[in-house]
Amino acid sequence: MGYAMKRNEGFSPTEKKEHTVVHVPLGAMSYDIIIGERVLAETGAILSDVVKCKRAIIVTDDNVASRYLHRLTGSLAAAEIRCTSFILPSGEATKSTDQLLKLVHNILSQEPDRHTAVIALGGGVIGDIAGCAASLVLRGLPFVQIPTTLLAQVDSSVGGKTGVNTSYGKNTMGSFYQPKIVLIDITTLETLPKRELLSGYAEIAKYGLIADAMFFEWLEVNANALLSGNVDLLTRAIATSCKAKAEIVAEDEREISGKRALLNFGHTFAHALEAETGYGPDLLHGEAVGVGMVLAAALSERLRLCGQRTTTRIREHLSSVGLRTSLREVREMWNINQLIAHMAHDKKAEHGALNFVLTRGIGSAEIVKNVDKELVRDIITEALQ
Ligand code: NAD
Ligand code: GLY
Repeated sequence: MGYAMKRNEGFSPTEKKEHTVVHVPLGAMSYDIIIGERVLAETGAILSDVVKCKRAIIVTDDNVASRYLHRLTGSLAAAEIRCTSFILPSGEATKSTDQLLKLVHNILSQEPDRHTAVIALGGGVIGDIAGCAASLVLRGLPFVQIPTTLLAQVDSSVGGKTGVNTSYGKNTMGSFYQPKIVLIDITTLETLPKRELLSGYAEIAKYGLIADAMFFEWLEVNANALLSGNVDLLTRAIATSCKAKAEIVAEDEREISGKRALLNFGHTFAHALEAETGYGPDLLHGEAVGVGMVLAAALSERLRLCGQRTTTRIREHLSSVGLRTSLREVREMWNINQLIAHMAHDKKAEHGALNFVLTRGIGSAEIVKNVDKELVRDIITEALQ
């Protein structure tokens, strides 16, 4: 490959000009995640090399377009890749069947061939809807992820889950569709609001909590510096997170064996909190995951899977970076029956039974099925006292 690269094991903070590369090993569907400071400017050259496309359709949102679209189109033009762009409104409401159909029709109206690439430039909303459209048009166009939020860089752009929301719930329509490459330009985080940055950070902490105690310890020391924009620390945290997700996805791409479900630590609680707050600006996904991980740790402690120290460390760390860690910090009052009903309807629930990813201590997680609803009720009630 023509682009300068080195595998993330060899990451050296002093060699900033090169990219850090994490490989996602999925046989014929394998791909690289390229992380660096000049990735947007080099996208055209990288795509010519890897995807070999002559045409591209960029999908982005209005916030991101005004900041980064020109950099991307300039880079594609320099590599003689013709492109058009489709700009969607920012926000979760964009992940709808209506917008998906509009996008699919727009792509079809441009008479794409099987080599026309669809590029998602934006956060998880754009990555999810653009990936879904790419998987549908002509039964699959080459798809490229350029995530611009921290959450999308460490989670949603990796692993091939695409989709939109329907009246039956969040992410209820979609496909597994892997990108050809993920391009992470960390300088895009310079314009990301702090709250969105912290929301993505919760997912970074999650990787340490489910599988890598040393990474979590490293985060305990370095989180505030990396969140203040230290490029080397940020690159390392993003690369380590992507590598952790890549390993899990490689083992269980379609979430069949249960390994991939470990990525949902804190998410059973989080999805219920998001459903109650309407998936709106009151509680961002990562913020809900932060509170959810503390509740999952409390539940693990109650089931004697871990000691009190684990819950305390999780709470103290998330709180030290500025994330909310308790239900009360989000809202004074919660309808506990409603929260439990949401959990029983979670995509991961089976026949209404409550399943959780719980912790056996920092760096170790497991799936526990059929958890007693009354115990979950107790944990939420105690959290509200
Ligand atoms: P988002 O895409 O809504 O982006 C958050 C906000 O930041 C938006 O207003 C956006 O316009 C703005 N923004 C994006 N990049 C910016 C930048 N560089 N500078 C300034 N503003 C910028 O939200 P998100 O948190 O990135 O993603 C959430 C979505 O991801 C949810 O729909 C969730 O379901 C999905 N998700 C998917 C997966 C998956 O595996 N596919 C995993 C986790 C989450
Ligand atoms: N964000 C969970 C997953 O990708 O499986």
